[in-house]
Amino acid sequence: MKTLILYTTKHGTTTKCAEQLAKKFPGQVDVMKLSDNHPELTGYDTVILGGSIYAGKIQKEMKAFCSSYTDTLRRKRLGLFLCCMSVDKADAELKASYPAELVAHATATARLGGGFKFSDMGFFEKMTIKGILKSEAKKAGKPADTIGKSDIVDISDAEITRFAAAMIKG
Ligand SMILES: Cc1cc2nc3c(=O)[nH]c(=O)nc-3n(C[C@H](O)[C@H](O)[C@H](O)COP(=O)(O)O)c2cc1C
Repeated sequence: MKTLILYTTKHGTTTKCAEQLAKKFPGQVDVMKLSDNHPELTGYDTVILGGSIYAGKIQKEMKAFCSSYTDTLRRKRLGLFLCCMSVDKADAELKASYPAELVAHATATARLGGGFKFSDMGFFEKMTIKGILKSEAKKAGKPADTIGKSDIVDISDAEITRFAAAMIKG
C-alpha cells in the first residue's frame, strides 16, 4: 500500500492533521503540501486530500487540483478531509469543497479537526475571529476575556483513527 496525503493550509492545522493521519497507515506514506510541483499520482494506490475552510470555501489550489485530476482520482482509493471550526456545517462544507463525483467515489470523508492559530494571524484576521468568538461566548454566558490570548487546537485523534481505519479497510 503506497499512500499520498496531499493538503492545503493557511495556518498549519491541516498540516498537523495530515502528519497525525500519516502515522496511522502501513507501508510508504508521503505527506505533501499541494503546490505547483505536486507528485505524479501514478505511483500511489491511495490518495488522501485535505484542506481548510475560510468563509465557507476550501483553498482554490485544492479546487483547481481536483478539477484537473478528477478522472485520475476516481481510479484511486480516495479519502477526503477538512479542517474547519464549524462541526455542524462540516458535512456541507466538505460537499461544497470537493467535486460531487469525488465525494461519491471517496472511501471515507471526515472533519479531522480545526484550530485558531492567533499567533500566526494578521491584525484584521485576529480582530475578526476574536470578535466572533467573544460575541458567541457572551451569548452562551461564558467568559470572553481570555479569547485570542492563546491558540485554540481542536484535532480529533478519534476521528483521525476512524478515518484511517475506514481507508485501510477499503
Ligand atoms: C478568517 C477565517 C475564516 C474562517 N471561516 C470558516 C468557515 O467559514 N467555516 C468553518 O467551519 N471554519 C472557518 N474557519 C476556521 C478554519 O477553517 C480553521 O481555523 C482551520 O483549522 C484552519 O486550518 P489551517 O490552519 O490548516 O488553515 C475560519 C478561520 C478564519 C481564521
